[in-house]
Amino acid sequence: MIHVESLTKIFRTHKKDAGLVGSIKSLFNRQYTEFKAADSVTFSIPEGALVGMLGANGAGKTTTLKMLSGLLYPTSGIATVMGYVPWQRDNEFRRNFSLVMGQRNQLWWDLPAADSFLLNKEMYRISDGDYKNRLLKMSEHLDIADKLHVQVRKLSLGERMKCELIGALLHYPKVVFLDEPTIGLDIVAQHALREFIAQFNKEHGTTIILTSHYMDDIEALCERVILMDEGRIQFDGGLNVLVDRFSHEKVVTIFLDEMPDKKTIEDMEHIVEIGEDRIVFKVPKQEIAGITTRCLGNFSVRDITISDMPVEEVIREIFSGKTVEIPEA
Ligand SMILES: Nc1ncnc2c1ncn2[C@@H]1O[C@H](COP(=O)(O)OP(=O)(O)O)[C@@H](O)[C@H]1O
Ligand SMILES: [Mg+2]
Repeated sequence: MIHVESLTKIFRTHKKDAGLVGSIKSLFNRQYTEFKAADSVTFSIPEGALVGMLGANGAGKTTTLKMLSGLLYPTSGIATVMGYVPWQRDNEFRRNFSLVMGQRNQLWWDLPAADSFLLNKEMYRISDGDYKNRLLKMSEHLDIADKLHVQVRKLSLGERMKCELIGALLHYPKVVFLDEPTIGLDIVAQHALREFIAQFNKEHGTTIILTSHYMDDIEALCERVILMDEGRIQFDGGLNVLVDRFSHEKVVTIFLDEMPDKKTIEDMEHIVEIGEDRIVFKVPKQEIAGITTRCLGNFSVRDITISDMPVEEVIREIFSGKTVEIPEA
């Protein structure tokens, strides 16, 4: 459904020294700096997939999505979405496509959302029957039906995003890009949007790329993630594989029949939590066997669980640069 090969975007910006002298100097001697926002980006996404795109601020996610939406020309490389080259802006491509950006609204600010929806209805030639059914279904699912006739500017951020989403999906596009759709929303609205997106994807087989700062979004919605850093793809695969490969530690919980004395506990390393009947360790993978053996030998152990680090924590670690080298695939 989506094929991207060596897609590269270089922004050329005009460099100028500060102040008037700088302005005059740069008038005669223009200097440019080049910045590679997307660097040989390559991936394919099959129909119906919901793929998460992760990366710190400035990683190149939005730039990539803009090229794949036809809003930006690439510097080099090729891409097809539904068989169309996005930046050729074929009508058929636009009729089956939608882009939602959490930081930019596409609804008319001074009109109620319902009026913007009507414009979309005409633009996408949606029949009266389809329009009525879809709007009813989506607005009830998102619990926003009573706000469709309120001026968009008077809506809360969460309500506005719900309307944005409806407006973007009324024509039942086959491919949808959601760029930070839940940014700034409260937990309840975030959850509602997330659940709606999952349902829409499942029901219509829509191909979706989602970027989000909230790992909860990615964890709830995406089996596959593409991790970007400095314009390049650093990882493309299962979220569980990503976590497994990048996390050096596991969480080991030892459940005890009776707690040992304080001194014995204090002698042990890697403890992160001591509960009423349990000790929780965060242990480097290679030390798991040693720790569990020690516990079994010294304490009356009722049960042991070993689990992955929380996804959120692993990703934070990757972004903070603590995980320096990218392990081999
Ligand atoms: N129009 C532009 N001109 C110059 N630089 C840009 C432009 N748009 C984005 N950039 C730069 O490209 C980099 C990637 O930006 P972006 O794709 O928005 O990252 P992300 O969405 O992952 O946060 C950033 O360093 C940003 O400053
Ligand atoms: Mg962005």
